[in-house]
Amino acid sequence: MKKIIVAIDGHSSCGKSTMAKMLARRVGYIYVDTGAMYRAVALFALRHGFISEGRVDAAALEAAMPQVEVAFRLGADGLPRTLLCGEDVEDAIRTLEVSAAVSPVAALPFVRAAMTSQQQAMGKEGGIVMDGRDIGTAVFPHAQLKIFVTASAEVRAQRRYDELTAKGQTVTYDDILKNVRERDYIDSHREVAPLRQAPDALLLDNSTLSIDEQNAWLLARFNEATHED
Ligand code: DC
Repeated sequence: MKKIIVAIDGHSSCGKSTMAKMLARRVGYIYVDTGAMYRAVALFALRHGFISEGRVDAAALEAAMPQVEVAFRLGADGLPRTLLCGEDVEDAIRTLEVSAAVSPVAALPFVRAAMTSQQQAMGKEGGIVMDGRDIGTAVFPHAQLKIFVTASAEVRAQRRYDELTAKGQTVTYDDILKNVRERDYIDSHREVAPLRQAPDALLLDNSTLSIDEQNAWLLARFNEATHED
């Protein structure tokens, strides 16, 4: 059976990675979380003091970009863990601090250029499920299956709140809702590769779907896309 590229784009915290991971595992494809790559760059910028009061020192980050090495390694559970310059930062990139810093970092053209070319290299053989904001529009405009996922901001904030508190982080629902709305705005209004639905992407609003229902929907779309008559 042909190995295709599956591009899953959409708003933040709408469950893209949950469905992308499930599909990759089910069909034996590689899963790539491109948001994790931008999060790792944001963590690097925070650690080096290139972000203060929400403003990124773009010149300093650009000069340091050759040192930023983002990679993935499979963890004991078989899921990829994000490495920054060889260090496992999978947990460090999931904090609200990094979530608040990542959208302005991801809007910088030199950051996007560096991440996009790495992502294209990872997917060039097919057999990949990649989730992000611009996979079906900019990274793989010829992906054979494109999905655009959304859900209401309130539903997404509640899901992120449940996820972070389950991990023991102290956060408030209101702060998360504010962050979700701010990221939607920045991601959709930036100049380079803004978040938008590709004309040939299938829309999935999962506000009222269970995880099992959305997984079943995605698998059915995958089977249609890979069906050879
Ligand atoms: O999916 P996520 O919440 O982990 O993504 C983190 C941020 O990275 C998000 O606010 C926008 C940015 N991003 C992007 O600009 N392009 C991508 N392909 C993936 C994520």
